[in-house]
Amino acid sequence: MSKRGDVLVGLDIGTSKICVVVAEVNEDGSLEIVGLGKHPSKGLNRGAVVNIDQTVESIRAAVEEAEFISGTPIRSAYVGVAGGHVRSFNTNGIVAIKSKIVTKDDIERVVEQARAVTMPADHEIIHVLPQEYIVDEQEGITEPIGMAGVRLESKVHIVSGAVPAIQNISRSVERAGLSVDRLVLQPLASSLAALTEDERDLGVAVVDIGSGTSDVAVISGGALRYTAIVPVGGNHVTRDIAIGLRTPDYQAERIKKEYGCAVAARLAHDDEIEVPSVGGRPPRVLSRQMLAEIIEPRMEEVFTLIRREIQKSGMEDLLPAGVVLTGGASIMEGIEELAERVLQLPVRRGAPLGIGGLVDMVNGPMYSTGVGLVIYAMRATNGARGRRGWLPGGVRNGSMRTAKDRIRHVLASIFR
Ligand SMILES: Nc1ncnc2c1ncn2[C@@H]1O[C@H](COP(=O)(O)OP(=O)(O)OP(=O)(O)O)[C@@H](O)[C@H]1O
Ligand SMILES: [Mg+2]
Repeated sequence: MSKRGDVLVGLDIGTSKICVVVAEVNEDGSLEIVGLGKHPSKGLNRGAVVNIDQTVESIRAAVEEAEFISGTPIRSAYVGVAGGHVRSFNTNGIVAIKSKIVTKDDIERVVEQARAVTMPADHEIIHVLPQEYIVDEQEGITEPIGMAGVRLESKVHIVSGAVPAIQNISRSVERAGLSVDRLVLQPLASSLAALTEDERDLGVAVVDIGSGTSDVAVISGGALRYTAIVPVGGNHVTRDIAIGLRTPDYQAERIKKEYGCAVAARLAHDDEIEVPSVGGRPPRVLSRQMLAEIIEPRMEEVFTLIRREIQKSGMEDLLPAGVVLTGGASIMEGIEELAERVLQLPVRRGAPLGIGGLVDMVNGPMYSTGVGLVIYAMRATNGARGRRGWLPGGVRNGSMRTAKDRIRHVLASIFR
């Protein structure tokens, strides 16, 4: 269990940047950010490590900065996982309740049964996240211990990743001198940082649009229902701009961030920008609208793929809290309007919430995953005392005052 003064570290290995978030647990169980390290990431493609040496170097640099700012040596971290190799699905288990009253042992057995699914040979399980339990005919139970019945069913969300891809992440972290506390699915981490508790209860999709991937998580009733990694992101927009405007990639990236807009119709014809050319040719003056006409179809495509994932979740009509966009690419002007048009759901932009300390350092949508990793770390080790928190897997953690609560915490750490 994490206690006051414990240091928790989140390591977000993104396609464009490596980010290390250092946090301390306060007396009241809240989290205080005490350091951040950030370094451009060179060894990744679409969320997966493709060059270990470069990744190790970037991790080292980000860790050094985080150690310097926090004044704390960093030995281990909760590490984010994404990439096209990640698979997730829902499954269930059924057992007889041995003593006619549900015990911790029954819960362990029913979750174990749900996880005993056939996995592809080259995949390993990253998370087993209980969503709800059914005792006899009664559905939607999050706390079945002590309930009377004869038949216990569990609904569980399982996330797996390809063994080589996972090994590449772990090896990079270890070679950078850290041990891996735990691998955590990136959209799960982002959802912990960017959503309010009301949204998680009502039904919401969080979409973290980074540079190489767009990560989707659908949450309702406080539990994760669906996750997917769509292998497109802000990099693809930059590439389109570089080709469309015949300008170098780094200029395309700068132009996108400074002038990009996802809805061309929002812009006036005479809103102009200067675009550097390649090969020593003179710069040209183009309209922002033309830039937006390159961005809009690509972002439309990204949101169409995201919409497909939300449809696949079967929860499309059960998301009263709509969609929360986060990740660096969500900063672009007009993104909410475009997303609402394609997704046909209410959309807001989200950045890390519910933290204290050096909040300004992580106050941007690109830090949702990193901050979410330390929130995960705290909840998984039960630091959220005295507050109604949310544990991965939909197990609620209340105050530590009652025996029931303590059992919940034990279960949450077993099934994380
Ligand atoms: N102001 C901005 N306008 C538009 N796009 C932006 C802006 N700022 C950052 N971005 C884009 O956000 C992306 C980086 O976001 P983020 O840091 O969340 O990605 P990442 O975590 O490194 O990548 P991934 O999660 O895909 O592995 C880049 O494509 C960048 O161009
Ligand atoms: Mg990211």
